[in-house]
Amino acid sequence: MRSTSLRTIGVLVVAGAVVAWLQIREPAPPPWTESEVAVLRSLWLESLPALPADRSNKVADDPRAAAFGQQLFFDPRMSANGQIACSTCHQPVRRFSDGLAKGQAIGTSKRNTPSIAGSAYSPWLYWDGRRDSQWSQALAPLEDPNEHGSNRMQVIRVISSDESYRGQYVSLFGPLTDLADVARFPIAAAPGLGDEWDAAWQAMAEPDRVAVNTVFSNIGKAIAAFERTILPVSSRFDDYVAAVIDADTERQQLLFNDAEVRGLRLFIGEANCTQCHNGPLLTNNEFHNTGVLSFSGEVPDKGRVGGLPEVFADPFNCLGDYSDDPERHCPELEFARTGAELVGAFRTPSLRNVEGTAPFMHKGQIATLGLVLEHYNEAPDAMIGHNEAKPLGLGKREIRDLASFLGTLTPREQAQFDSM
Ligand code: HEC
Ligand code: HEC
Repeated sequence: MRSTSLRTIGVLVVAGAVVAWLQIREPAPPPWTESEVAVLRSLWLESLPALPADRSNKVADDPRAAAFGQQLFFDPRMSANGQIACSTCHQPVRRFSDGLAKGQAIGTSKRNTPSIAGSAYSPWLYWDGRRDSQWSQALAPLEDPNEHGSNRMQVIRVISSDESYRGQYVSLFGPLTDLADVARFPIAAAPGLGDEWDAAWQAMAEPDRVAVNTVFSNIGKAIAAFERTILPVSSRFDDYVAAVIDADTERQQLLFNDAEVRGLRLFIGEANCTQCHNGPLLTNNEFHNTGVLSFSGEVPDKGRVGGLPEVFADPFNCLGDYSDDPERHCPELEFARTGAELVGAFRTPSLRNVEGTAPFMHKGQIATLGLVLEHYNEAPDAMIGHNEAKPLGLGKREIRDLASFLGTLTPREQAQFDSM
């Protein structure tokens, strides 16, 4: 007995010495070089420029429109079953996402629900960029059979039949079309789906369709004004960058452990993540094929190659009749990138709060950050198109370090939205 416990103590002492030796051997992360500090500064939330104006939406920055839009965002009456609101899938407590692989409402959405925080900065909306403004995007879920499942006639009737909404609408946009004559304005009508709503829409007079589209687009503009107020919140990473810029090493050590520092160094260096995840929102807002595999049995998603013709065909796009910009200044549409490399390409998502947006990728195909990083490490051949990312050859510890770093992008608090 006695000799066993002595031996145990001996083993523990030796093990302790080895651990201590390893800790001494583990070099402290080297200080950041000047060029690395410049990269870190470019990723810092403080470097985010003021929100660019949306000339296509004249109420974009009107607080009354934002207040109206907020009510609409949470209102289930604009859905086919009276139960679905934007907030069903974009939940404030989840930073405006839903934690599911694919959105769930009247049916199942085709893709994963992104957070809308900071989406006002993106020239393209949706994973495939099939809309070019927040207001034109906001109209799509209302008529998507899997989401709100409604039609624009029913949607605008919600506004005209609610006294408070009607008042807010009129004060922002002027007189609201009188919808009482159901021969001119059917109870339900919307273009495009080849069903009875479509037939009712096609039977309407063109000026009446324009009047309905005008009200419909204004609803999107009010919702967009609200969405513009939902911005990314600073994280521990941003505090760390501030400490790096101040050359305050003591504070740096309090904020980041060595694994997080190593992960950040990989992120901006060897692992080349900032090739696409750059700028203060950690996205270049461009479309890339990163070889994400489809769920088995699903046809691979064409991504941007499908989204591009859709945004050009959208009557509510920047060049369309419902834009408020008399000059139709639309450089994004004019210079939109085309070409074969867009097959299977998706918009680079922001990595702010990435931990909180699991499961990951355009259809929620990858469950954990560790698995996302293993995907990048292997860079498999794409199912369609060509994977732009190259295998990284990282070891297990490096993958863990990168995952630790990604955890520092979680917002510190979101008090602004707790009451919603
Ligand atoms: C059924 C769940 C669901 C509902 C309801 C819903 N969304 Fe979404 N939302 C999604 C999904 C899924 C996507 C991504 C779809 C895609 O890219 O093809 C998305 C994308 C978006 C985006 C684009 C974000 C980005 O970064 O590209 C915005 C903005 C948005 N929704 C706002 C809204 C608004 C406003 C409403 C209400 C009018 C709404 N959503 C209703 C699921 C939903
Ligand atoms: C070639 C551009 C490119 C590079 C390089 C790149 N990414 Fe991505 N990243 C993307 C795109 C595009 C997506 C979305 C892909 C999809 O859904 O099919 C994505 C998705 C992600 C996601 C999932 C986010 C979410 O909300 O679903 C994470 C996490 C991520 N990338 C981290 C990284 C890290 C870490 C690196 C470096 C190892 C990296 N990325 C390198 C373009 C890139």
